[in-house]
Amino acid sequence: MSRILITSALPYINGIKHLGTLAGSMLPADVYARFQRARGRETLYICATDEHGTPTELAAAEAGLDPATFCAQAHDVQHDLGRRFGLSWDHFGRSSSPQNHRLTQKFARELWEAGFIEERVTQQVYSHTDKRFLPDRYVIGTCPHCGYEAARGDQCENCTRVLDPADLLHPRSAVSGSTDIEIRGSKHLFLRQSLFSDKLRSWIESKRGTWPLLVTSIALKWLDEGLQDRGITRDLEWGVPVNAWEWGANPDGQTPDIEGLAGKVFYVWYDAPIEYIGATAEWADARAAEAGTGPAPDATWERWWKGPEAADVTYVQFMGKDNVPFHTVGFPCTLMGVNAREASPWKLVDELKGFNWLDYYGGKFSTSQKRGVFMDHALELLPPDYWRWWIMANAPETSDATFGWEQFQAQVNADLADVLGNFVNRICKFTESRFDGIVPEGGAPGALDENLEADVLAKLREYTGFMEDREYRKSATALRQLWVLGNQYLTEAAPWTAIKTERERAAVAVRYGLNLAALFAKVSEPFIPFACEKISEALGEPFPATWPSLDGQGVLSALEPGRTIRAPEVLFRKVEDAQVAEWRERFGGPEAEGA
Ligand code: MF3
Ligand code: ZN
Repeated sequence: MSRILITSALPYINGIKHLGTLAGSMLPADVYARFQRARGRETLYICATDEHGTPTELAAAEAGLDPATFCAQAHDVQHDLGRRFGLSWDHFGRSSSPQNHRLTQKFARELWEAGFIEERVTQQVYSHTDKRFLPDRYVIGTCPHCGYEAARGDQCENCTRVLDPADLLHPRSAVSGSTDIEIRGSKHLFLRQSLFSDKLRSWIESKRGTWPLLVTSIALKWLDEGLQDRGITRDLEWGVPVNAWEWGANPDGQTPDIEGLAGKVFYVWYDAPIEYIGATAEWADARAAEAGTGPAPDATWERWWKGPEAADVTYVQFMGKDNVPFHTVGFPCTLMGVNAREASPWKLVDELKGFNWLDYYGGKFSTSQKRGVFMDHALELLPPDYWRWWIMANAPETSDATFGWEQFQAQVNADLADVLGNFVNRICKFTESRFDGIVPEGGAPGALDENLEADVLAKLREYTGFMEDREYRKSATALRQLWVLGNQYLTEAAPWTAIKTERERAAVAVRYGLNLAALFAKVSEPFIPFACEKISEALGEPFPATWPSLDGQGVLSALEPGRTIRAPEVLFRKVEDAQVAEWRERFGGPEAEGA
């Protein structure tokens, strides 16, 4: 049986994440991890904060903190929110960890010595006032394309063109506002991506038809436009230092310009994906520390990532569409290059699930404009399952999706309160009042019960298949249909009528009904783990530990007669109109213009 390695795109350290970020990476990864664990597969779900780069330095400065302190605090906030959302990370690491520093530097040395890294002198903006180079967003100026006056050095917000800081007209420092600026040559390292074009293309071609079309088309478009070599260093302080002093000669016999590269760090998009591996090492070390055995030997985490030990691993990545180029081109280039030097190669991604955008009433979520719902506020309003369910049932898979309070209210009330909650409540209450809370025995199943079992099995097979394929909308639809079968069955079997004349008939219906509830608790858990835990507790421990077998045997027989159950507390309260009105006011409604 294969092992499953799961990573979701690493959230940037600065700022609380909104529902759109959850929808495109962390939540689907979590649903998949929970599903695979329930299926009995050895699963490792890795995530981390993405901590380097100019935005971090700027955000730290704004908060009056040094980047290390800022990141440590922000990491804890995100860790806590993720846990409260039920994100079942095996490890939530930090790209600033020593493990990631080590790997990032080791890979760079190997890439250099293999001839895949090149030195170039590039034109950088230097500020005399700040006595430093100003990369990326550290420079503000006028966009040479559209004339927008507050364009940032990495990109113009107005016309969205990608810029180089040296392109800006009338540049000024974002740190001091100073215009005492000059363009100076500065040594930087470039990863020679262009050498990998053919290899990457045939790799991506081999994924056509299995990976989502969104993903392969973005990757191929990127390749069609011609792969550019990529600058992988910056003139910053916060980051992984360029360790050129450790490098030997490249195949041309050239050694690196140690002095020219002194004080530089790697570019955030170079080190961040390496943290997928770094965080796996952090996970192993954390477990070893817990066990009191010191740092873990590399083999404990490398078995997920490299060589023959990882042959049974299926590696699945989750991300929003803006991240696809970095994961289909950038990171694979790094690994392909490193693998040229390794006897035992690092794994490339096997399955890549990319998502479109989830937006807010057709516009962007925006922190600065206080538009849309962010993780901390979401949890103030409602328990996590409401959000988890709605987001995944409306996952932006084949196109962008949009959040609106009215549609959210209608859907969670219908699916969670009216269908699932109502079913579990009805059957449990009835068992309490008429069967002393005991799963009844006796009575022989009839056609109605046997049909139910067949329908449930068919739907369960369909649902499980969609889950294996990471088709979230389809999975949610199938799961909802499974819940509906429960309500239909209760209505037809009508144990409350049967009990007046035929107690045995009622006993069968109650037994089947309770077993349905148990099945729901198990198979709904990837989407709504908190409610499922309540149902499981109400139905008594020990509770079926694994995914039901799909072979047709006993899909509705996990709860043995004689077991005591109780009705759970209310599973899902309905979202009221007054709440929707209040929340629209607070977070912005359809009238608030999109960005
Ligand atoms: N922080 C990036 C974003 O939110 C994603 C980084 S994914 C990684 O867009 F692989 F590079 F870490
Ligand atoms: Zn512009």
